Amino acid sequence: MTKENHIVWHQHAVTRQLRESNNGHKGAVLWFTGLSGSGKSTLAGAIENQLTSMGMKTYLLDGDNIRHGLCRDLGFSEADRQENIRRVGEVAKLMIDAGLIVATAFISPFQSDRQKVRDLFEPEQFFELYVDTPVNVCEQRDPKGLYQQAREGKIKQFTGIDSPYEVPQHPELHLDGQQPISDSLSQIIALLLRNHVIQLDY
Ligand code: ADX
Repeated sequence: MTKENHIVWHQHAVTRQLRESNNGHKGAVLWFTGLSGSGKSTLAGAIENQLTSMGMKTYLLDGDNIRHGLCRDLGFSEADRQENIRRVGEVAKLMIDAGLIVATAFISPFQSDRQKVRDLFEPEQFFELYVDTPVNVCEQRDPKGLYQQAREGKIKQFTGIDSPYEVPQHPELHLDGQQPISDSLSQIIALLLRNHVIQLDY
């Protein structure tokens, strides 16, 4: 017998709906995807900052940080990236159950992995935000010096250099990674309002 057959989901008394009602907003995932250096973490941090200053309950899951703990055993092969994104999706799902607005910043280069995460959620809970910054711009920014190391062959399977990035086909938001951050924040707030995750009078 597999464990799936004898482990039953326990519905506890405090529900997501109750937590959301206490928080005054819905739980949702803002799933930022894009190349290394595209601006995902910066935008995720900025939107979390704005939402928190508005009194909302948030959390930020950031690729570089998660790879120091939960995913420290994973590298950058296709299989490891798949497992990385799967774990993050499950953690984000728990955080939605806690009623939080979760911003995630992972390259998440493969369409099929992003789709699997999307499938964990209701449509009104999951928002894919594509931070569109051309690879040559990311390489010029090179905030951690990793593109240079990849070019020198010191890092293998680097996304955008010798590992692919599959561009999202139908993201909820297509953000220009070179526009002012405040413009991206306005677009994200409008998205959350439009989808009734947050309300204007908050
Ligand atoms: S993902 O592909 O599995 O989604 P994730 O977002 O967790 O990647 O981690 C990406 C970060 O790890 C990059 O921002 C960069 O700092 C670092 N990194 C180290 N090696 C690589 C690599 N081979 N490809 C991409 N990013 C790498």
